[in-house]
Amino acid sequence: MNKMHDPDLGNCVKPAEAAASIPPVYYTSDSVASDEVETVFRRGWIGVGRADMVRAPGDFITLDFAGQSIILLRDKTGQLRAFANSCRHRGARLVDGTGSCKGLRCPFHSWFYGLDGKLVAAPHMERAHDFDKADNGLLSYRAEERLGFAFVSLSPNAPELDAYLGDFAELHAPWPMGQLVTVRRQEVEVDCNWKIFLEVFNEYYHLPFVHADSIDSVYDKPDAPDVVTGAYASQFGATEGTGGLLEADQDKSLPEIPGLTGKARKGARYTWIFPNMTFAANRDALWCYEAYPLGASKCRVVQTSCFPPETIALPDFEKKSAAYLKRMDAALDEDIEALVNQQKGLACPDARPGRFQPDLEPNVAAFARWYSGVWV
Ligand code: FES
Ligand SMILES: [Fe+2]
Repeated sequence: MNKMHDPDLGNCVKPAEAAASIPPVYYTSDSVASDEVETVFRRGWIGVGRADMVRAPGDFITLDFAGQSIILLRDKTGQLRAFANSCRHRGARLVDGTGSCKGLRCPFHSWFYGLDGKLVAAPHMERAHDFDKADNGLLSYRAEERLGFAFVSLSPNAPELDAYLGDFAELHAPWPMGQLVTVRRQEVEVDCNWKIFLEVFNEYYHLPFVHADSIDSVYDKPDAPDVVTGAYASQFGATEGTGGLLEADQDKSLPEIPGLTGKARKGARYTWIFPNMTFAANRDALWCYEAYPLGASKCRVVQTSCFPPETIALPDFEKKSAAYLKRMDAALDEDIEALVNQQKGLACPDARPGRFQPDLEPNVAAFARWYSGVWV
């Protein structure tokens, strides 16, 4: 671990009113990016998206992060499993992309693993002394599901997920998160550090300047940030109409998520589960992003849009949901332009940490506080 990157990280621990941002070198240095693989991505829990990426037993998807490929799959009992995408014989990659299978067969010498990761068959291995299939199952990682989100930990020393998330489930109880269904999942590479991608999604300050003609007028001034106990930050804000549509498309709104009560019916909750997954829970839809570093100045972003099954069943769903997806892409394009520009500015060798607008950027300050802890 490297504590040498910048002594000013200490200013990140202050309250948003007094804090300074994470120093620019943390967004631009390749040595920081390489250290983050260990300090951030291989240590705690990583949000890897919506658990309905793998719906039925045998469904799998390969996920690339923390310098490796991971197979996320649903086993026969319906449990999520995560395995290293590396054969225990001589290391070949087992699968690519997504699919459905009865087990994992290595394309090289045909070793076959069950959905529980156990080695089931290994051709012609009888002559190998003391070869026991039970010792040659896939390397397995912890995989869990909460509120329809999938989490993976590459570290046996990470705390229990519920201890890590604290009161996350309680704060989000008004939304039936676990029942929402993914309608579109897409990936894009962005020329910026993974942290600034998540930051911009979690702050209201840029709305009138970056999204002036698209979504700004939909969002009211947000509430004070929630005081939470887990490794996440959250801020609710009322909206005029729905945050899921452009200003010009508000007449295309879909029904409310069934069962919402109170202020959940009136706006959007923006939540960032540290380090890399964030989402907006709206009155009618949920959309999420994960960001994964590809070096210091590039990241891979996954965007997922979800709706309740009742809404998806409506005859005009396809037509109306297209307007929601259009809004996601429009705001993303506007953010990407701002982020690429921010990344260029951060690369100035003399760039310094900056101060936060406490009411509009508290989630960014909360992340900086959490992030400073990973280097201790
Ligand atoms: S490397 Fe997989 S069976 Fe040989
Ligand atoms: Fe934005």
